[in-house]
Amino acid sequence: MKNLKVSVVGLGYLGATQAIVLASQGFQVIGIDVDEQKISSLQKGQVPFYEPGLAELLQLALESGKVSFTSAYSDALADVDIHFICVGTPLGEDGSEIDTKYVLEAAASIAEHAKPDSILVGRSTVPPGTATKIRDLISGSGKVSPKIAWNPEFLSEGTAVMDFLKPDRVVVGVEDEFSERLLQEVYQDFLDDNRPFLSMSLASAELAKVAANSFLAMKVSFINGVASVAEASGASTRELALALGMDPRIGNRFLSNGLGFGGGCLPKDISGFAETAKRSGNLAFANMLQGVIDVNNDRVETTLSIITRLTKSFTNPKIAVLGATFKGNTDDLRNSPAMFLVNRLKDYGFDVRIHDPMAGTDDIESDIWNNLEKVVEGVDVLVTATDWKEYKQLRAESLERYVARKIIVDTRGIIDSDSWVARDWKVLRLGEGQDFDG
Ligand code: UGA
Repeated sequence: MKNLKVSVVGLGYLGATQAIVLASQGFQVIGIDVDEQKISSLQKGQVPFYEPGLAELLQLALESGKVSFTSAYSDALADVDIHFICVGTPLGEDGSEIDTKYVLEAAASIAEHAKPDSILVGRSTVPPGTATKIRDLISGSGKVSPKIAWNPEFLSEGTAVMDFLKPDRVVVGVEDEFSERLLQEVYQDFLDDNRPFLSMSLASAELAKVAANSFLAMKVSFINGVASVAEASGASTRELALALGMDPRIGNRFLSNGLGFGGGCLPKDISGFAETAKRSGNLAFANMLQGVIDVNNDRVETTLSIITRLTKSFTNPKIAVLGATFKGNTDDLRNSPAMFLVNRLKDYGFDVRIHDPMAGTDDIESDIWNNLEKVVEGVDVLVTATDWKEYKQLRAESLERYVARKIIVDTRGIIDSDSWVARDWKVLRLGEGQDFDG
């Protein structure tokens, strides 16, 4: 029995998933976004980005009449019990602090229509203090206003539907029992003893998100830092990651070295958290977080210098970069280390072709292609830049008739290198002590 009515404002990767999954679970959902094109594609049953499993759930939700999409804040919101704010929080103009203007605007627009016994729940990533700022903003409007809660999201692109249906935990920041009860009602079916509902203060809930993402970023930079030491000392990062990860206090996830972390979340959140640390007077912690960012930026430069060394005797070397998205199983190019590498290679005058199984097209005029044979034709060096499963399954024999030279730089460490070496390929893998000179 799902009697609650829900609105979701902002229909990007997070909001669209929130709206569609809740509707598929029986909640009555109104999805709102200012982007008319997004609304019309969702109304037609098309998810405007790639997220496995979401299109199927959208079909079900539309057929059952449980979801509607609109670009207008209207009186339809007057009926709604819970308003989820899922709008973007980009980095501000100076590139450090997270900008909350869209969150504040959305909250003000919702408050104009919302009933007093509804709750307004922020899901976007924000600096601490944003929820209380919203509370003050809407309570200044004169009428009895909805209550404020914060419910950070922990969805990963590529597995967002499963992450929503089976969360590790649900975190809510609340100031009153009514909000806590409504949120419990929303999430109760997704939780059990191992997947708890954690209720805390607004500030803790706000910080839980940036702290979690910053910790994940730190883990990735840690293993990438280890990788640079391993490269210089003849050790293998793959072996080290195994040894480290088996300590349950460390854990084996997020220990894959590569080109560094990217996407719409980790890079932004760690910058925002570093700025928050600085503003709260903790320069040492801010510097530590900045170190994580610096190590991350270094991986693309290291790869660039490996490719430069490898090709120093070649005339007009051609490079095929395999992967454009920031990780596999998404079409998201935001802050993609693969694309940063492409741009740096171009800066250095390399002739670069790019392949991506999802972001690529057939169009020869576009920058990113999906025809692998065409991309690798006549190239001197292949570079795996994204951990797509298509690249894990690559076989040397299927590509060697197209390439000019049998050299592959495996930045993500995903190919079965022994089988490539057995066919006389030179395989260079980031994080492994080996001869990087051509
Ligand atoms: C991240 C978090 O994992 C989610 O928990 C969070 O909810 C989400 O941000 C968000 O804030 O919305 P996502 O951005 O989808 O999710 O991507 P991740 O899976 O975290 O990967 C981030 C980056 O780290 C990718 O570029 C990935 O390739 C890289 N990575 C990850 C590594 O290089 N090595 C690893 O071992 C793991």
